[in-house]
Amino acid sequence: MYFLSLLLLLLSANVQAIYSDEAFVNDWQLQNVGEYQCVFENDNSQYLITLSQLGQKSLLSFINEVNGEVFFRQPLDFSGLDVMVVDNGSEFVIMDDNSQMRAFNGSNGFPLEKDVSEYNFKSSCQPDMKGFKLKDKTLQVLDPESQLVVFKVDLWDNFQRVEYIHTDFQGTLKVLYSTTDSKYVFQFVENGELISEWVRDESESDIVAHAVINLPDSSLDAISQELVQEEDTSTLWEAYKFRVSKNLQRFKDLLRKYHYSPGAMLTEMLKTDDDASKEQRELVFGLAKYLVVATQRGKISALNIKNGIVEWSVQSNLNDIILLEWFADSSELVAVDRDGLYEFYDLTDLSQPTLIKKDRFGSTKIDTISLLDGQRFFITTEDDQKSIVSLSSKGEKPLTSTFISTHDKNHIYGHVVTADGQLRDTWVTTLDDDEEILSFAKREDTPTVSLGHILGNRTVLYKYLYPNLVSYAVYNKKTGNLFIHLIDSVNGALLHSQVHDDGVDPSSPIELVFGENWFVYSYFSSQPIPEQKLAVVELYESLEPDHRVSDNSTQLNPLKGVHPPEVITQAYFFPEVIKRMQLSDTKFGITTKSIVLELESGQLIYLSKALLNARRKDESQMSDDDKKEFMAMPYFSTLPINDHFIITHIRHLIMGSNSKLISIPTNLESTSIVCSLGHDIFCGKIAPSGQFDIMSPTFEKGKLIATIVGLVFLCYFIRPSVEAKKLKSSWMVRN
Ligand SMILES: *[C@@H]1O[C@H](CO)[C@@H](O)[C@H](O)[C@H]1NC(C)=O
Ligand SMILES: *[C@@H]1O[C@H](CO)[C@@H](O)[C@H](O)[C@H]1NC(C)=O
Ligand SMILES: *[C@@H]1O[C@H](CO)[C@@H](O)[C@H](O)[C@H]1NC(C)=O
Ligand SMILES: *[C@@H]1O[C@H](CO)[C@@H](O)[C@H](O)[C@H]1NC(C)=O
Repeated sequence: MYFLSLLLLLLSANVQAIYSDEAFVNDWQLQNVGEYQCVFENDNSQYLITLSQLGQKSLLSFINEVNGEVFFRQPLDFSGLDVMVVDNGSEFVIMDDNSQMRAFNGSNGFPLEKDVSEYNFKSSCQPDMKGFKLKDKTLQVLDPESQLVVFKVDLWDNFQRVEYIHTDFQGTLKVLYSTTDSKYVFQFVENGELISEWVRDESESDIVAHAVINLPDSSLDAISQELVQEEDTSTLWEAYKFRVSKNLQRFKDLLRKYHYSPGAMLTEMLKTDDDASKEQRELVFGLAKYLVVATQRGKISALNIKNGIVEWSVQSNLNDIILLEWFADSSELVAVDRDGLYEFYDLTDLSQPTLIKKDRFGSTKIDTISLLDGQRFFITTEDDQKSIVSLSSKGEKPLTSTFISTHDKNHIYGHVVTADGQLRDTWVTTLDDDEEILSFAKREDTPTVSLGHILGNRTVLYKYLYPNLVSYAVYNKKTGNLFIHLIDSVNGALLHSQVHDDGVDPSSPIELVFGENWFVYSYFSSQPIPEQKLAVVELYESLEPDHRVSDNSTQLNPLKGVHPPEVITQAYFFPEVIKRMQLSDTKFGITTKSIVLELESGQLIYLSKALLNARRKDESQMSDDDKKEFMAMPYFSTLPINDHFIITHIRHLIMGSNSKLISIPTNLESTSIVCSLGHDIFCGKIAPSGQFDIMSPTFEKGKLIATIVGLVFLCYFIRPSVEAKKLKSSWMVRN
């Protein structure tokens, strides 16, 4: 008993929280400033203030001089061209592209309510190089009177330009310079000695295209080879013998590795994770990936998706990259730009891309490009031409006939690619002159896990699972109405449509995402109160439970039309302005879908689809059976933001207007990686249904094994005494 209590004590001591806080461990952000337009110092000489471009507007940043970290960033609502520093930095004036001047407080960057039109504007952006000399990659500081060199500092080899410089001509110097690869180096010299130096890498800002590379798990190669061998063997018995002998061999190897010592094997099992096994686990779980991004300036870089560290980068000769695509089979990465120029990189060695081919297709600017299959792309150009282009140097296998639907501002087109590779137009929908398409989403192509939705009384609502669906939002300028349409993308037939006339604001983002048998859209409207709205439309075969319209024995021909869905819809208020939406993507689609939202406030959050349910109704109308339904909740008009669903925690993202939100599945069904790509880069992990397939890192393997060993041990000792007791009691012998 003493032993048992000792064990219990051991287990209860030092119990850690079940949910270890993985914030800032599993997620990372590249906080970018961009290319520095103007750099100056604030009044207490602790921060460098920079002005940079953020889309069409400007960004004001305070950078800590000690370590180069961004202290504070403020997007401005105009485009600044030039800066004048007033009163040694206690105030500065920015001139915008309309020559209008605005004053800001130098210590905190807040705008000052002050008329500055009288100021005699003099730019402070050009560093004054009087008294300095650049020679052989060194910067020399000259005495103002004698012109003799007071001291000098070494510059980097790829030095480009001095952005900011300040010295007292005695021994202190602060210099910030740029390098040819968009890095910014700050050096601080005191008494002629280099005291601190830091570098900011601004080359991975303003992402325009991306691709994801899964790092291969080579540990499985041996096993897959064995499986192939096993298939090659002639009979079942031989395959079985092969497998048993292989496993026996493996066991022998293991014993030999630990010198036949059970102790060594046990310690190995109990050992806390080292780096190598952690890395191996990440490979198996599909968490080891490269996020390849292309920037506006044509640089292609691979970032480790775990921590954002740049693994390699290449400067392409492309101008305005619109597509990066990874072909895992041939280990090739292709980058295509708007002019039709493309470059192929070979990545057989994943740490080193080599340019293997560059060429161009077409002569007009590309509008959109998307992968069809193999290395075949569907392309629309700015002069409304559509074509199919293959970039493969080997032959491609013939296409299966494919239906494509495209859209511009006020048309939706249907096309078909026939088996002989011809592209034909099929149908077109033209909107009124006053109408404009603001958002467009096709149904996502993920595996279907269940055919129906089980209600509380064990009846089933059958989901409408017809795959060729597209929904789009149309705004009518004359009436101010927002129409949401659902169409069949094969024949263009309208299946459902609904309208909002609550003062929709067309200038704020209208976003649409289309999941399995539902779509969600967001819009901002002014009535009854100015508020963000989030609406969900769910499609069922029939709203009558247990009524199935489709049947699994006949094949449907979409060209002959399909039966329309029955629809339930519900709308909610949402407390923040939504900028972008994306569906979470997991490997098998079993995890409850969630909707990842990028908010105007610079945060990423996710909402479970269970919350955004069109069948939620007021509590007074819910029957007892309704309450038994899985995850059933009564209807509340506002969807709250729960702190647990904020992916970015306290971070503030500055993404610009063309950011992209992506969700990348991993081999763990529960877990999806979410990234936002734009001016900044952010990646984090979400587990919408909880981490049901993974043990918490704090799971105490050692203690569990110790307990089991202890219990076995205990049984071993207690059993004889129990048997003796039984024997005694059957003979009615007293102790
Ligand atoms: C600015 O600084 C210089 C030297 O550091 C000083 O002589 C001058 O008075 C300062 N001017 C103002 C307006 O504070
Ligand atoms: C700027 O802000 C600081 C601190 O908030 C304040 O003390 C100072 O008076 C302000 N400067 C001007 C010029 O308003
Ligand atoms: C089961 O519940 C649904 C929804 O509440 C209701 O429409 C249906 O009539 C119920 N069916 C039975 C057999 O009670
Ligand atoms: C169709 O579904 C029924 C029951 O849902 C099943 O019994 C039948 O085997 C299915 N038929 C085919 C062709 O899959």
